[in-house]
Amino acid sequence: MPDPIAPLLDGLRAALGPAAVLTDPADTAAYVRDWRGLYQGATPAVIRPADAAGVAETVRRCVAAGVAMVPQGGNTSMVGGATPDATGRQIVLSLARLNRVRAVDARDLTMTVEAGVTLKAAQEAAAAAGCLLGLSISSEGSAQIGGVLATNAGGNNTVRFGNARDLVLGLEAVLPDGALWNGLRRLRKDNTGYALRQLLVGAEGTLGIITAAVLKLAPRPREVAVALCAAASVEAALALFGRFQAHDPGAVMAFEYMSGTGMGFVLRHIPGAVLPLAAPADHYVLVELASPRADAGLRAGMELVLEAALEAGEITDAALAESEAQRAAIWKLREEHSEAQKREGASVKNDVSVPVSAVPAFIAEATAACAALIPGVRAAPFGHMGDGNIHFNLEQPEGAEGAAFLARDHEIMDAVNAVVRRFDGSFSAEHGVGRLKPYMMPGWRGGAELAAMRAIKRALDPKGLMNPGKVLP
Ligand code: MLT
Ligand code: ZN
Repeated sequence: MPDPIAPLLDGLRAALGPAAVLTDPADTAAYVRDWRGLYQGATPAVIRPADAAGVAETVRRCVAAGVAMVPQGGNTSMVGGATPDATGRQIVLSLARLNRVRAVDARDLTMTVEAGVTLKAAQEAAAAAGCLLGLSISSEGSAQIGGVLATNAGGNNTVRFGNARDLVLGLEAVLPDGALWNGLRRLRKDNTGYALRQLLVGAEGTLGIITAAVLKLAPRPREVAVALCAAASVEAALALFGRFQAHDPGAVMAFEYMSGTGMGFVLRHIPGAVLPLAAPADHYVLVELASPRADAGLRAGMELVLEAALEAGEITDAALAESEAQRAAIWKLREEHSEAQKREGASVKNDVSVPVSAVPAFIAEATAACAALIPGVRAAPFGHMGDGNIHFNLEQPEGAEGAAFLARDHEIMDAVNAVVRRFDGSFSAEHGVGRLKPYMMPGWRGGAELAAMRAIKRALDPKGLMNPGKVLP
């Protein structure tokens, strides 16, 4: 049988213009390796359509040629979700050129954005209209809306606004047969059959390619208060969360936990990172309060709660941001955790969730399980304590060989997940399943649930050309 790829690429060049088809390995290199450096893939071409019609055209031609597609946004996946395999037979379909903010409506509190808009650019467009897009993740400068939705990203504001799924009112997508579906509805209520948009959100590109979305906005905060606290223990950090919830649950914008180990990596590796506290601690909390009211009294409320926590011995120190620059500096300590862990050496990530009340016991038991498995391993748990999503990341023992440590990643993840299971948690809270974790699906989602997922996949993508090898084992 003649190789379908050369004629496919010729047809795509003719249809989309030569600039939309990258084949030079120097141009495609950045698209075939994931951010963590876990996977080195290969591709005959990266296709970069300029609009949704171009995406549909690409999909139709790939389906006709029987060639698999790997959709890619900012390439920030933590689980290899956007990396092609090593066969060199899968094309990468980049959404980066679909980068227009189509509309922001401050009255309806919605925005319509294309898949290739970075999350940060979408946040800025919302802010310019006096609104807030209530979704924030560490990689927001590079992560693009299409990928953020395809993975149902969570992040720092889930405690207030939910996950990406909760912000999607409408969607435009190319389905696996190449049909361009316009579901860009801006309705708060719409009970008209299956919620197709919610099927595509979180499907990680296995059921179609998101090209644009209508997102819910909130009024822009006019008062914000941020503090970094040294906590006496993980239990104490959770008790502090309870205090803020009891004081004013509607004001909590983020409640993030960080271990002393992880903070140590940030202070060591990230230029300009400075701890605004008197001394390093074993546990830290970053809390952000926000309100659309200018006179919400958040600062006074923050001080009241922190004073009570100090008196109770739950925290030993706290620094309140006095300016936007200080607020950014405190957030930097949290957001650079992954980068710092990368610079420290080899790390194994566990993006898990447990009921919020179980976070302290989970961290204690998972730490003990990993120490028993690999003496000297450095647990650096951190993350979204307010919603129960902890990044239970493990750094190689000091002086150990990185590759040997990474070779034990399944063993380590399995040990952590055994603890997660005891607390009725999830093995993937916000990063998705991608290419790293499909092997876990039968054990966690097997039976009726996985059978239904497979039936949906077969019905929508009978040829299995949409991001193969991801999500489903
Ligand atoms: C974050 O919250 O910073 C990322 O999701 C974390 C990670 O590296 O596991
Ligand atoms: Zn996270």
